[in-house]
Amino acid sequence: MTAAAAVDVTLRAPAARDRAAIERMLRDAAVFREDEVAIGLEVFDGSVAGDPAYHSVVAELGGGVAGWICWGPTPCTVGTWDMYWLAVSPAVHGAGIGTRLVREMEQRLAGRARLIVVETAGREDYAPTRAFYEARGYRRAAVIPDFYAPGDDQVVYVKSFTPSTDSYEGR
Ligand SMILES: CC(C)(COP(=O)(O)OP(=O)(O)OC[C@H]1O[C@@H](n2cnc3c(N)ncnc32)[C@H](O)[C@@H]1OP(=O)(O)O)[C@@H](O)C(=O)NCCC(=O)NCCS
Repeated sequence: MTAAAAVDVTLRAPAARDRAAIERMLRDAAVFREDEVAIGLEVFDGSVAGDPAYHSVVAELGGGVAGWICWGPTPCTVGTWDMYWLAVSPAVHGAGIGTRLVREMEQRLAGRARLIVVETAGREDYAPTRAFYEARGYRRAAVIPDFYAPGDDQVVYVKSFTPSTDSYEGR
């Protein structure tokens, strides 16, 4: 399936009942270490609890969770936001769900974000993920060698926006 053949997902706020499905999805992605899954769930819990540091959206397909995105204002910045998490169920990769979630985040931040930052890995198994961000207008801004572990670089992507007001949120 190609991203063009997007499936009809419903985007909605996360709920506590989604936690097990989110956990399964993060494990099934097969790129996140156990400690990363634990942090992902902490962030998920924060977004469900209404913590303003974490905003998230769930993609629902056929009554189940098919994707999840989470973002928040980057502390100590003016108008910079971090996309913290993005995952789509492997069974429906390539169906346009990741694209819908990124677009939804960008639309919700329209007029509020000046810069969206995505940190990802430079490992070979992340090559499709990096291609995904690059095709969606995210520009490689930095590489920190050996950031996550020896031989496991961090790649920082950024996308710039023009806020419609001159007062930025996220500070
Ligand atoms: C990266 C990811 C979120 C993309 O979501 P998706 O719903 O599969 O992507 P879409 O269908 O919207 O878009 C398909 C595009 O993503 C790329 N892609 C990345 N990973 C892919 C995968 N595993 N399967 C299919 N396409 C993938 C394709 O090359 C395609 O590119 P194109 O449209 O420019 O040709 C998803 O594959 C995923 O969850 N990966 C594992 C977890 C991960 O890496 N999360 C991000 C951590 S920073």
